[in-house]
Amino acid sequence: MPIHRRRGWELPASRLTPEAVALDRRRLLAGAALGAGAIAAGGHALRDAFGQGRDPVAWWEAQAANDPTRDLYPATRTARYTLDRPITEAREAIIYNNFYEFGSHKTIWQAAQRLELRPWTLRIDGMVAAERTVDIDTLIRRFPLEERTYRFRCVEAWAMAVPWTGFPLAELVRWAEPQAGAKYVVFQSFQDAKVAPGFRQSWYPWPYTDGLTIEEATNELTLMVTGIYGKPLPPQMGAPLRVITPWKYGFKQPKSIVRMTFTDRRPVSFWETLQPNEYGFWANVNPEVPHPRWSQAVERMLGTGERRPTQIWNGYGAFVAHLYEGLKGERLFA
Ligand code: MTE
Repeated sequence: MPIHRRRGWELPASRLTPEAVALDRRRLLAGAALGAGAIAAGGHALRDAFGQGRDPVAWWEAQAANDPTRDLYPATRTARYTLDRPITEAREAIIYNNFYEFGSHKTIWQAAQRLELRPWTLRIDGMVAAERTVDIDTLIRRFPLEERTYRFRCVEAWAMAVPWTGFPLAELVRWAEPQAGAKYVVFQSFQDAKVAPGFRQSWYPWPYTDGLTIEEATNELTLMVTGIYGKPLPPQMGAPLRVITPWKYGFKQPKSIVRMTFTDRRPVSFWETLQPNEYGFWANVNPEVPHPRWSQAVERMLGTGERRPTQIWNGYGAFVAHLYEGLKGERLFA
């Protein structure tokens, strides 16, 4: 996405990929377990798991069948959040991803299978009544899951329309009991150099970080996402926990979150640290404010390639425009 100015010492993606997709021994064992589940489900994922041409959907279905929270899916869809376009094919959404920890290109889905999804914990700290660390399955079972269909828009001008499963971040914020002075919540993605080759690219400001104001975080649209298309998230889409704010560009929505910090200081995100002239704090979708390298006037739907005019706030103005009244001096759309 965002930038990629290759520096002299950076390895080209073609040299990173073979290593990234190689299955380590642990993953092989996990693969065997997945395969067994898939056979029980009548699938052919065992062959896919060990074969050269693994099928992304079969691989994901096998994983989902073994997920400790699989009984919670599919969750009931909330009718309030409607789409103006067809849902993107699952196969298209799960093979075209931005996840720089696994590579600075779009075909990271295989590399991302190295991410170990359990055990997984979320640390909640900073300006809260009591800091705590919660196990992901306890967390997911604490808040009722629902399905919502949302548009999703990347600043690179590709877009999708997908059914996410999750729970409102507002509920988690309430549970975290932020102190009165907390103004922002900051999300941090996982950081494990044994799992993802991107961490060796030391010029990136790891871990991937971004944040929201408390008002944005508690807006009804903001979802802590655990699943998609009626199944637990696949690793490449940010399992086991990511945040979704559909009126903002995709880079504001960190994947595979391990930490949430409440603070009174506006955070500087991963991308803003790298390119402050291109990426700011707010990053709300607006067709009339071009990114230096991408016009935002039109978006291209994954899968169909259909081009549609971009909508301000990505079409969610009725839910969120009021959050930004009185902030006229801010770069709300970068
Ligand atoms: N989260 C992490 N940890 N690392 C990333 O590189 N990329 C962001 C966002 N969240 C990214 C991330 C960007 S630029 C986009 S557009 C979306 O994830 C892509 O989400 P998707 O691959 O699930 O479609």
